[in-house]
Amino acid sequence: MTSVIHKPIKHDSAPKHVAGSARYIDDLPEPEGLLHVALHLSDRTHAKILNIDLSAALAIPGVMAAITVADVPGDPDIAPVVRGEPVLANGVVEFHGHPVAAIAAHDLPTARRAARLVRVTYEDLSAILSIEDAIEKQSFLLPPLGLKRGDATAAIAGAPHRLKGDLNIGGQDHFYLEGQVSLAEPREDGDVIVRCSTQHPSEVQKLVARVLGTSLNSVTVECRRMGGGFGGKETQAAQFACIAAVIAARTGRPAKLRLDRDEDMIATGKRHDFLSRYDVGFDEQGRILGYELTLAGRGGWAADLTGAVVDRAVFHADSSYWLPDVTITGLCCKTNTVSNTAFRGFGGPQGMATTEYVIDEIARFLGRDPLDIRRANLYGKSANNVTPYFQTITDNILPEMLDELLASSDYRRRRQEIDAFNAQSPHLKKGLALTPVKFGISFTTTFLNQAGALVLVYEDGSVQLNHGGTEMGQGVYIKVAQVVAETLGIGLDKIRITATRTDKVPNTSATAASAGADLNGKAAEAAALQIRDRLAVVAGAMLNADAGQVVFADDHVRAGGKSVPFADVAHKAWMERVSLAASGFYATPDINFDRATGRGRPFYYFAYGLSATEVLVDCFTGEYRFTRADLLHDCGSSLNPAIDLGQVEGAYIQGLGWLTMEELWWDDKGRLRTHAPSTYKIPTARDLPEDFRVQLVSGRANPANTVFRSKAVGEPPLMLGISAWLALKDAVAAAAGTRMVRLDAPATPERVLLAIAAAKRQDAAMPTDMAAAK
Ligand code: MTE
Ligand code: HPA
Ligand code: MOS
Repeated sequence: MTSVIHKPIKHDSAPKHVAGSARYIDDLPEPEGLLHVALHLSDRTHAKILNIDLSAALAIPGVMAAITVADVPGDPDIAPVVRGEPVLANGVVEFHGHPVAAIAAHDLPTARRAARLVRVTYEDLSAILSIEDAIEKQSFLLPPLGLKRGDATAAIAGAPHRLKGDLNIGGQDHFYLEGQVSLAEPREDGDVIVRCSTQHPSEVQKLVARVLGTSLNSVTVECRRMGGGFGGKETQAAQFACIAAVIAARTGRPAKLRLDRDEDMIATGKRHDFLSRYDVGFDEQGRILGYELTLAGRGGWAADLTGAVVDRAVFHADSSYWLPDVTITGLCCKTNTVSNTAFRGFGGPQGMATTEYVIDEIARFLGRDPLDIRRANLYGKSANNVTPYFQTITDNILPEMLDELLASSDYRRRRQEIDAFNAQSPHLKKGLALTPVKFGISFTTTFLNQAGALVLVYEDGSVQLNHGGTEMGQGVYIKVAQVVAETLGIGLDKIRITATRTDKVPNTSATAASAGADLNGKAAEAAALQIRDRLAVVAGAMLNADAGQVVFADDHVRAGGKSVPFADVAHKAWMERVSLAASGFYATPDINFDRATGRGRPFYYFAYGLSATEVLVDCFTGEYRFTRADLLHDCGSSLNPAIDLGQVEGAYIQGLGWLTMEELWWDDKGRLRTHAPSTYKIPTARDLPEDFRVQLVSGRANPANTVFRSKAVGEPPLMLGISAWLALKDAVAAAAGTRMVRLDAPATPERVLLAIAAAKRQDAAMPTDMAAAK
């Protein structure tokens, strides 16, 4: 039997991506009478709106409509979780770049020109910009999440050694190639269809219905594909869809809103930057005895998903380590900056990076290889295997994976070589770091772990597949198609993958939390199994066999040495009035979490990974190159090793970019000054490690009952990038000739240079007995 599961099958749109024929929203043929929409963004950081004058904008020929929040026919609040996020500024602007008004015109240049003519009168209010300032003024969006086991304070006080410090971790722009875009078209009876680049069609549907003051059944949202989402289109596509829908409803004409790159970077949220404060007590072997940690994320002006993001940071502050006595607190800081949102890893990377940094500090304090300290603290298999939220880890494969990567990366020998190189090289220094990844799979908001699918078999044996998953390049469409093809025993060529639409599958969750293939794969499998069971009865009669003996494979149905084509069985079923359509549903079993007690099993299972990165730093300029990286990542029984390899490579590079070169910079007025690729550097092909070795774990099926025993892959490998940052820290220490160095993220060349200088200065001032730090 030719199987299509666990096979390296190319992305269904790969030829179209390469040829440029894959259609994104802005490539769709423009409907008759289309209006183009542009936004007026505030030029104040925090101010009361006294008056909005649209007259000059409306006077421009070609301008057809201009709206403010007052023109929204329904409820203008589009907050995904906690109310308080008007679709356009309502009486007050909360950040520099806050959308205040929308202008619709015959063409985009006219709309953009008119948008600049909107005159707003403001009265300035005081603004909070930084995390420190927010903490000091107790400016929070939501109450904190705390996890606590034992008595960390006492354990730290009683420990032989103690380190206390803080760490800044920068944010990250999603830099999807396709920016935010929506096209809304009015239909009969006040209905509207919105084509939107979104990870969450059902939420866009709900919020469009809300702003229009109508019900969900009159709004349809469709997304064929996104040119990248990375979390940036989990909630924040909705605002632009809603504005386009309001314009469409008001004018009776189709309306398209597409941000340009600068507006997209200014007006949409990013990865949360964090300030981490730690206090850690440990023994001579570097084993952590007590750990107190505060993780403060900058939420920006509105809650959006900040609560869940900070929760996930707290859940991942254990990284891969057993923390006997521990207190972790997550703070959701409210600032007058853009509202930060989901970004690949969803807070997890910030929590993990903090503790990986702390482990590195412990190692340097003790004068040991950080790898040994990691090993000493790694979660055990049958003991020391309970997380700070009291979930027992039952599937830990990190110890074996570590042995494998140590061998394949030749870590020990290279460590010695690098030390020898650094000893004789005055101005070029090498660094090496090896870090683990353990990432919890499931939405921590338990009810979101559900999915639906609709499978239609036509009487010629061809299949249309719909499910709630959205395609953003990550390959969820091909993976779910593989699941259905395998279940029905037919070739992938028999399956038509269609756009995700709210009128095919209702009430879906965002494609997020890496769970897209897990959830939708299971839902589609359930639908396909229903049809297969019905077809087995039909085929059994055709083959004179029991339905239970019938086998579906190779586009045929077989039993007792005979076979009929799948298409003939489908045709026969139709003739016999047997339904060839089914909807499937899936809800992840066995998960729960009680936020009040900080206990539960929020994750169905964990995905693991390890990476070792080597860097070469030019100590005159701070510039660096990644000379080698070895990655080993766990996808269980990968549904599609070609797709998964791409996910691992891409995620690593995105993580490396976040922690090393991507720097967001706001000025003292809260204006984002890095809002284009000219000032914001994302990694390119030239930034790949020169020697890049990427491997998926083999022969380890997921012990949890996931779809074909695979594991989610979208986010976890992003955190493999942490080793790139800590390799830089290693090189900085070598360059400064000191043990302790401070290196906040992103470790841009500028920050590397400054870190070397600071470490040298500090070392000169430091007492010789470093234990005095206790
Ligand atoms: N891969 C590509 N090419 N483009 C993307 O936008 N988003 C990531 C990841 N991989 C993304 C991607 C994020 S943030 C998530 S949560 C997952 O894909 C979502 O898809 P999945 O659940 O199907 O893995
Ligand atoms: N991950 C991603 N998106 C989410 C989550 C999560 O855990 N919870 C709510 N939205
Ligand atoms: Mo991904 S941050 O969960 O969209």
